[in-house]
Formats: sequence, C-alpha cells, structure tokens
Amino acid sequence: MLINTKKNHRLSEQQVTDESVYHGRRELLKKLGYLGAGSLLAQSASTNAGALDFFSSKEAEVFQRQALKFAPAGESLQILTPEAKISSHNNFYEFGMGKSDPVENAQGFKVNPWQLSISGEVDKPYTLGYDDLFKHFPLEERIYRLRCVEAWSMVIPWVGFGLAELIKKAAPNSRAKYVAFETLYDPEQMPEQKSRFGSVEYPYVEGLRIDEAMNPLTFMSVGLYGKTLPAQNGAPIRLVVPWKYGFKSIKSIVGIKLVEDKPPTTWNILADREYGFYANVNPAVDHPRWSQASERRITTGGLFARNRIATLPFNGYGEEVAHLYKNMDLRKNY
Ligand code: MTE
Repeated sequence: MLINTKKNHRLSEQQVTDESVYHGRRELLKKLGYLGAGSLLAQSASTNAGALDFFSSKEAEVFQRQALKFAPAGESLQILTPEAKISSHNNFYEFGMGKSDPVENAQGFKVNPWQLSISGEVDKPYTLGYDDLFKHFPLEERIYRLRCVEAWSMVIPWVGFGLAELIKKAAPNSRAKYVAFETLYDPEQMPEQKSRFGSVEYPYVEGLRIDEAMNPLTFMSVGLYGKTLPAQNGAPIRLVVPWKYGFKSIKSIVGIKLVEDKPPTTWNILADREYGFYANVNPAVDHPRWSQASERRITTGGLFARNRIATLPFNGYGEEVAHLYKNMDLRKNY
C-alpha cells in the first residue's frame, strides 16, 4: 500500500489555477455588483438562484482567515478540490448508486419550498422555510476535508453555520442526549427511493451524540464555493461532520430531532459490522473489507495522479474532538 503525505501536499499548477478561478470569480461578481455591501444575506437563493455569492470581499477575507483556522495543518486554500469534481463525484443513493448518478439525476430536484423542523426534547420547537435557511444564522465559510469511508477524500469550501446555533435556538431539555437527522422522503423526485432492488432503507437517517452535535466543528452547510449547494451535494441543507466518515454527513435534511436514546442510522442498519454509529475517521481500524490507513485525495489529476495520502486520526481534527471520546475504546465504538 502506498502511504505518502508530504509530496502530495505540494501544489500542482492546476490546483493553484483552481484557487485563482475561485477568487477571480469573486472579483468578477464584485464588478458586476453581485456582492452586496455589508449583508451576508442580502441575496437569498430564491432571488439569485444559481449565482449566489454569499460574501462581500471584506467579509470573504475575514472568513478565509477563519476558514484557514479550521483547515488541516499544513494545508491551505490552494489545495481545494475543484468545484467541478465536488459536484460530479457524489454519494447520494436516493439519486442512484453510481458516483455520476446524482449529478445526472438530481438536476430537477425542487428545494424551494422546503421545511426543516427542529423538534423532540426541546422547549421551543420550530420550523425553518427555504429562505430561513440562509437568514436565521450568520453564514461563514469553512474549509474542511471530507473523508469517505470508501477511502477517497476532498477539501471543500463549505458555506453555512454551526449546528450548535440551530440547536440552542430550540432550547433542548435535559433528556436531549442525541440528535437524529432525516433526509427528505419523496420517491417521485428521488428515484432510488422507489427502487425494488435497492437495499438502503429510506428515508436516510443519521445521528450524533449531543456533545458531538454541539462541537464547534459540526456544521450545517447551505453552500459551497460561495454559492448555494448543488442538488447532488445535498441541497438545500446538509450536515458536515469533518472528523467522521462522510456517510454521517446526511444530505437534504427535513428533520432534526433531539432524542433521549441513540437513534438508528442508515448504514448501521444495513451492515452493522461495517458501519458503526460513531464512524470517526480512524486509520488504525480497518473496514472489514479494506484498509483505512490511506486515502485517495481527489484533485485535478486523473486516475493516475499521485494523490494517495495517509489518513489522519479524526481526519486531522483530533485537537478539537479527541476529548469527546476519552474513555472509549474506539475499536469497539467504530
Ligand atoms: N445523505 C443521503 N441522504 N444519502 C446518501 O446516500 N451519502 C453519504 C453522505 N450523505 C448520502 C448522504 C456519503 S456515503 C458521503 S461520502 C457523503 O454524503 C458524500 O457527500 P458529497 O457527495 O457531497 O461528496
């Protein structure tokens, strides 16, 4: 097995180009007047569908600095996975099992109107409509790695807000020990949900322990690369838990429920021995069918690009999250 890090952290010319395209577009939008002064929220996706840029340039600067704080050590904006890859290599089984199925099958997916309800063991349950997703909480940009359990990874500039903000607003009570998430169930729009051959039970469900959910890294994303989320990436709102395997980062969420008992989770229901509730990225614990010691970083290169890198414990976020598991055996609690 190839385990290599340093060399692969260096930038290729193409990767640098991608960053400049990203910033170049911001400049262009600014010139065209798309970047509203002051307000992060001036343009909701409904009024500026497809071309939403969330930030003014000043705000973007601040957020970039903030984002770099969360970026893994030694990495910078310059190694962002190109937008075209992030939005064409996807796992979203509701739209098909292949990596290119979601981008092909999700294009007509209607996200407006949308309803996201926050309920359960809370004093103040509430519901957010489509526009609220962009208005209720200050938006920021966070650059995170996404490490899939299948051993590929990306570096993605998400836009969104902390899950903790959304939960606090509902005033959880003392029985709230876990958070359960649910994806939209709409077989008319999501073809795999009516497939008779699929093995996944729908709606897709996920869960976190309350302290994991309240950790500052845990993020609700409504955009990437400064625009609203593409349907195939989980529009209009999805979870991002950067220290866990990607399957925890549930897409197109309609329900968030604070609960007393550990909630069922889709991949655990399907294959208990292979996918646990915790699913923390852990190079020391292999998947029963493959190694988790390294990963293929998806970059601009093709199949033969030298892009295999070592996988880091907690995906490189140990400093922020290892304390959550201090008395736990991570081999048993995989
Ligand atoms: N959420 C739903 N509802 N359905 C899915 O099939 N796939 C998960 C996760 N969230 C999935 C989902 C998996 S396995 C991964 S790796 C990530 O989404 C992929 O996110 P991306 O396509 O934005 O890279």
